[in-house]
Formats: sequence, structure tokens, C-alpha cells
Amino acid sequence: MTAPSPSPLNPNAWEQRYQDGTTHWDLGQPAPAFRTLLAAPDAPLAGSAIALGAGRGHDALYFAHQGFEVTAVDFAPSAIQALGDQAEAAHLPLRRLQRDIFDLVPEYAGQFTYVIEHTCLCAIDPSLRPAYVDLVAELLVPSGELLAVFFTHQRSGGPPFGITPAAVRQLFEPQFDLLTFAPVANSVPARRGEEYWGRFRKRSLGG
Ligand SMILES: C[S@@+](CC[C@H](N)C(=O)[O-])C[C@H]1O[C@@H](n2cnc3c(N)ncnc32)[C@H](O)[C@@H]1O
Repeated sequence: MTAPSPSPLNPNAWEQRYQDGTTHWDLGQPAPAFRTLLAAPDAPLAGSAIALGAGRGHDALYFAHQGFEVTAVDFAPSAIQALGDQAEAAHLPLRRLQRDIFDLVPEYAGQFTYVIEHTCLCAIDPSLRPAYVDLVAELLVPSGELLAVFFTHQRSGGPPFGITPAAVRQLFEPQFDLLTFAPVANSVPARRGEEYWGRFRKRSLGG
């Protein structure tokens, strides 16, 4: 009997990708949609934010640079090391947590004005998506916001696991008001036509 192959979704598998340099998802810069969001007249005001599955931290550092108080979470040690090195080089304060995002609650429940999502939802097992939505809601203060760039590709397999915009809407609508949910206009060429951005506000209980 052959041993089952290790899951491509466990921390060791992600760490191996960093060590091998097969980090094709890494844009080497913040998602352009976040630059647009923070430059807009109605940009979210700086506040506490947590970046889930932050990788090398390009988005987390961008928000920190714009005055947000950022906590960046990833369970791959090399990702945490790289984002720490980047923060140090840029002299930016940033809290780093090497943790499984699904272990953040109850410790960090209700502590953040914003959750930052960029290619984390597509990196987890699709069966965990409802738990991910609950996690985002639990991390946020009342009326806190999810600031997200969703990878809405439609290919089979993964990671990255594709998702339709309709499925994103269906997942989040029970707990969030979708203030904005629209195709990204300035994706990098490799993701053109396959990204949606969202600004979702956590609905208060009974609201
Ligand atoms: C596709 S990468 C995206 C990284 C980063 N957001 C970016 O855009 O460059 C997904 C990241 O999520 C991390 N990750 C996946 N599942 C995780 C989990 N359950 N807890 C913490 N980190 C996780 C991986 O280690 C990886 O760094």
C-alpha cells in the first residue's frame, strides 16, 4: 500500500514553495486594486488591519505605509521571514504572526477595523470557505470591513482554487453588506479579467 500523498495545502507544502522559489502568485508589489482603493476620494480611513495569508507581505506593507496598523499572518516561516525583512528595510512597523489563520480566534476576535484579503481565499480548501467567512466576521469590530481582491478564475483544480463572483457574493452576503463588488480594472496582465475587488461591511447583529 502506498502512502497518501501529502496535502498541497498544509504549511509544509506552502513553505516548500517558498524555499523552491515557485511562488508564481507573488506579484512583487501590492495588488494594483489596493493602490486604487487607497487613492480614491472615499478611501478607507487608516485603522487596524489584519492581512490573512500575507505571503511576503507586499499588500500588508503597502497598507502600513499608508498609515494602517497592520498585523500580517501566514503559516509559512519563509513568508514571515521575508515580510519581516521587507518591513525592517522599509522601517515600517508591522506585527507578524506565524499562525494558521483558522487558529486566530478567539485570541484576536473583534480586534480589527479591516481584514485584507488577496489570494488567501483561493489558497484554502474550498470546503473551508464558509469557515473563512466566519473568521473574517469574527476578527472584525462591529461594522468593520473586508478589503479584498478575489482571484475569480474559472479553471479546475488548485491551489489557486477558482471561484465565481456569484459564489463570492453568496458566501459573504449573509453576514456582510457589499458596499462595492466589481471587476478589477487594472489587474496585472496575468490576472486580467480574473479579479474582483470588494469592500464588504460586517453587518451588525439584527441589522
Ligand atoms: C497564494 S499565496 C498568497 C500570498 C499573498 N497574499 C500574496 O498575494 O502574495 C497564499 C498564502 O497563504 C498562506 N496560507 C495558506 N493557508 C493558510 C492558513 N490556513 N493559515 C495561514 N496562512 C495560510 C500560504 O502560506 C501562502 O503564503
